[in-house]
Amino acid sequence: MSSAKSHETIQSVLSENRVFDPTADFVARARLDAAKLDALHAAAAKDPVGFWADLAKKELAWQTPFTEALDESNAPNYRWFADGKTNVSVNCLDRHLATRGDKIAIRFEGEKGDTRHYTYKQLYAEVCKLANGLKSLGIRAGDRVVIYMPMVPEAVIAMQACARIGAVHSVVFGGFSATSLKDRIEDAGARLVITADGGHRGGNIVELKKAVDDALAAGAKTIEKVVMLKRTGHEVPFIEGRDLWWHELMAQQADRCDPAWVEAEHPLFLLYTSGSTGKPKGIQHSSAGYLLGATLTCQWVFDLRDDDVFWCTADVGWITGHSYVAYGPLSNGATILMYEGAPTVPDAGRFWKLCQDHGVTIFYTAPTAIRALMKLGDSFPAQYDLSKLRLLGSVGEPINPEAWMWYHRVIGKEKLPIVDTWWQTETGSIMIAPVPGAVPTKPGSCTKPLPGIFADVVDESGEPVKEANAGGYLVIRKPWPSMLRTIWGDNERYIKTYWAQFGNKYYVAGDSAHRDADGYFWIMGRVDDVLNVSGHRLGTMEVESALVAHPRVAEAAVVGRPHEVKGEAVFAFVICKGARPTGAEAEQLAKELRDHVAKQIGAIAKPDDIRFADNLPKTRSGKIMRRLLRSIARGEAITQDTSTLENPAIVDQLAGKA
Ligand code: WTA
Repeated sequence: MSSAKSHETIQSVLSENRVFDPTADFVARARLDAAKLDALHAAAAKDPVGFWADLAKKELAWQTPFTEALDESNAPNYRWFADGKTNVSVNCLDRHLATRGDKIAIRFEGEKGDTRHYTYKQLYAEVCKLANGLKSLGIRAGDRVVIYMPMVPEAVIAMQACARIGAVHSVVFGGFSATSLKDRIEDAGARLVITADGGHRGGNIVELKKAVDDALAAGAKTIEKVVMLKRTGHEVPFIEGRDLWWHELMAQQADRCDPAWVEAEHPLFLLYTSGSTGKPKGIQHSSAGYLLGATLTCQWVFDLRDDDVFWCTADVGWITGHSYVAYGPLSNGATILMYEGAPTVPDAGRFWKLCQDHGVTIFYTAPTAIRALMKLGDSFPAQYDLSKLRLLGSVGEPINPEAWMWYHRVIGKEKLPIVDTWWQTETGSIMIAPVPGAVPTKPGSCTKPLPGIFADVVDESGEPVKEANAGGYLVIRKPWPSMLRTIWGDNERYIKTYWAQFGNKYYVAGDSAHRDADGYFWIMGRVDDVLNVSGHRLGTMEVESALVAHPRVAEAAVVGRPHEVKGEAVFAFVICKGARPTGAEAEQLAKELRDHVAKQIGAIAKPDDIRFADNLPKTRSGKIMRRLLRSIARGEAITQDTSTLENPAIVDQLAGKA
């Protein structure tokens, strides 16, 4: 099963047998100990739907209670709590005002060291003002609003303001290019963009407004207005009649706004993610089910309590930033930290200084960041007081045991639990992860599914893989509330991508995994043509389409290769129109193509390696032998049978030997 790319990971994790129990201190204060967790699992096993229904009643504030928990009549388009009405922003803000009004909701620090904060009362007022502002611009429930912003509190305010009036937001990561932005606006049919004059990163200004202008000049005709936050203060074009300043819009608005009571299934947001075709898909999430997942996992996995300062380093442009910056922690009335900037400015101690200065107690980041900071040495974390930290988390890609151990030893001082959390844009919230006061951890394993999540590993025919350490497809057997509802505008693709493989019986995650003898899950990686570069999903076909859009490129094939820090790196084989470039010309063109991909998609998609060849390795039926390209990219000996190739002689050239 699966690709050769999993092989190394399998080797490294098979030899991994260290087990770390939660400390007695942690267990003593934990929300869930082993007995409580067992009780939740037992309740979910006995009555899976009733289990979620009880939690939905207890954890969420409803304007109209639901009477039916799960509607399966149109499966796999499941509906949860469908006749109930609620509002996500009321759950995140209003319900805390009486008890936590003066508590800090958001602490913020910019790269240059500027800080500010919002109490729950202040956040509520800002969200209401913007919600009124959006209404004054004609935005109504169901309208799509694209948010293209830096990691500042206003990004969360924008998301919450949309939720308040029932508008559907689609946040586009600020690192995506104007072209990507335009494609997403067009697919979503958005009426409004909320952006900023720019953002700060690595000492530079990210030209967000310029990208918006370029996107709107190239298309995206559904956009009527652009609301622009003044963040950097540098000069940017302002188009009269279309553009508005955030502060001017806000200045005229009342700081109260009645929420739109929406049905539980009302879409809260679309978030575009890469799949195995060239076109990113708009993952559609619901209001109530989504919020329930985000809320509960904060309690179960992060053990979130009132006195915590929770820092999830993810940008709000990704699902992690939705569920664990903008929604889950606020729904729990927690204090979060947001940081706008690079982890290495002014040096590799920045994250640890932020933890110290803001009294961070729970820290959640990605393996790529851990590996990058690990490489820069132990001396940086050693300079800061990390004694407030009590829990560490990891997300986005498999964490290699070496990085896990560094995190454990140097940041966790060998005491703190590490929660390695497996989930996806599509799952909405964490699915497989240790409950830190109850489940012993093993470096590199996300351990066991959470209560109510029926994960399994199955073979090609859909049968559970019973043998320990044997790989298979990761699937989820039963629907869960925070699951995606569909792909925006393409329900057929939703069914085909996630359900059809095993006859619509269960959700197919697109990852391969195995279980060890203790039933712990080990995620091996994607089984489709999706790469995971620095924890970001990237479709190989997306990069290929970007490359062939360049006038010099006739054909391109993109594969991943292992990368020490990024996890995976992009390796592109490129066939040019005309003669194959060599020497200085090849170098020049490779640079041009990298910049071209950055312009088409975003800097994260830039190929690390570009190799020019006369042809791609194709079978006689014209199929590109991708496995062969993967072996070449990894510098492995070629073991595949190349005799079926139409052009076997090309292999040496692709391998850079001719
Ligand atoms: C991978 C991010 C191993 C996986 C929340 C999944 C992981 C994809 C882990 C989803 C983990 C995420 N261990 N692999 N703890 N977490 N992945 O949609 O391949 O950006 O399918 O969601 O990341 O990426 P996405």
